[in-house]
Amino acid sequence: MVALRSLSGRLLVLTILFVMLAEFLIYAPSISRFRKTYLEEHIAKAQLATLALEATPDNMVSRDLEDMLLFHAEAYAVIVDRPDRRMLALSKDMPPAVDATFDLRHTHFPTWISDAFAALLRKDNRVLRVIGESTKNPGVAIEVVLDEAPMREAMLGYSTRILQLSVVISLFTAGLVYLTLQWLMVRPLRRITRNMTRFRANPEDETRIIVPSDRGDEIGVAQRELAEMQREVRAALRQKGRLAALGSAVAKINHDLRNTLATAVLVSDRLAYIDDPEVKKVTPRLMDAVNRAVGMCSQTLDYLGDTRTKLSRSLFHLQEVVAEVGAAQRETFPDAAWDNAVPFEVDLEADRELLVRALGNLARNAFEAGAARVRVEARRDGRQVEVDVVDDGPGLSQRALDNLFKPFAGSVRKGGTGLGLVIVRDILRAHGGDVTLVRSADDGTVFRLVLPARRR
Ligand SMILES: Nc1ncnc2c1ncn2[C@@H]1O[C@H](COP(=O)(O)OP(=O)(O)OP(=O)(O)O)[C@@H](O)[C@H]1O
Ligand SMILES: [Mg+2]
Repeated sequence: MVALRSLSGRLLVLTILFVMLAEFLIYAPSISRFRKTYLEEHIAKAQLATLALEATPDNMVSRDLEDMLLFHAEAYAVIVDRPDRRMLALSKDMPPAVDATFDLRHTHFPTWISDAFAALLRKDNRVLRVIGESTKNPGVAIEVVLDEAPMREAMLGYSTRILQLSVVISLFTAGLVYLTLQWLMVRPLRRITRNMTRFRANPEDETRIIVPSDRGDEIGVAQRELAEMQREVRAALRQKGRLAALGSAVAKINHDLRNTLATAVLVSDRLAYIDDPEVKKVTPRLMDAVNRAVGMCSQTLDYLGDTRTKLSRSLFHLQEVVAEVGAAQRETFPDAAWDNAVPFEVDLEADRELLVRALGNLARNAFEAGAARVRVEARRDGRQVEVDVVDDGPGLSQRALDNLFKPFAGSVRKGGTGLGLVIVRDILRAHGGDVTLVRSADDGTVFRLVLPARRR
């Protein structure tokens, strides 16, 4: 049973079946031809027997000779049907009644086949009347009355021989096909699968990359493609390792930098109290620079440190979350107008903290770009919730558009890290949703968040 589940085992069985099927297709016409020849031979034998009559003056032979001739012709009676006269040439004393008549002169191929199978399947003996044309004298018909049983015996013998032969042929062919496939396909496929398993166990090991053969067929292509893929996977893994190392280094530096900057914030706060016009002039700029630096550090840390793979979902009303984001924005942008147009009934099962961060990033981008008003709309669309963040700012610059959602590359803002939108996208995708830029023109921008309303 296990052998049947393997590719080669199945092929072996299938080949045997197919060859047997082909043999059967050949068997049907050949058994009917066998029967036809058998009957024609008996017509010829019968005609030969009647020739003895021609030698006598009155076309009569002795009873004994007649029996002898019929015995050799394996017939009960023979009739010669000339165009001018029909003659009962030879006959037993009491010929049996005829059960079926077959006229060989008017039989077509399908009838030959069906008659042959009918003869094979019968259990009892029938007395047949067979009519055929004389081979030597055209126009003369010979009729023979004979038993069907001996013919069936001969046909069964013939069928057994064919069956034996087909079994031998199919086993032989199947064996050859099996060995060929084993050699050409199964063995190389097994090598490929073995190699894949080995490679997966340790993809960084150079020696586990498959060495492709120089075959020109599909297997050769598969081997070469696999080798190429393994090389790429290996390179990607190494790259990923390096990036992870780089990431943790940056995170560490950033962390320390943020602490150092916190000290700078404290110190520059004190500068505000110094009553010197020059100091008063530079302090706001200094504060601004330090604040920007702190922002950059926090943003990078958020991105790098966000290795959380599990969301902590809860059920909440989106309206409340949007209100909370608006309140936070008003602290940084006191003149900003925040328009919460989310209907109360829109609720979500999502990671609340991450959603606050995503909406906060979009809002901050809008106000930083110079928008005076941001409006958040939301609607439930089947099992999804769509949230639009609409602002009346100047739209995205070409460079920002070209590098949309690319980490570190998308920022055109002085002091921007270029991570805000990437973080938004990461958060939405983790929820099984996404963020898209729906509109960007010189009178405003619309970003759309789509996310499933409930955990799937
Ligand atoms: N609503 C918006 N209106 C106009 N420009 C925008 C808007 N949102 C994003 N941008 C542009 O897209 C750029 C990329 O935004 P992103 O939030 O990714 O980075 P950033 O804001 O520059 O840096 P940070 O990582 O600090 O958020 C921004 O620099 C800005 O030019
Ligand atoms: Mg931003």
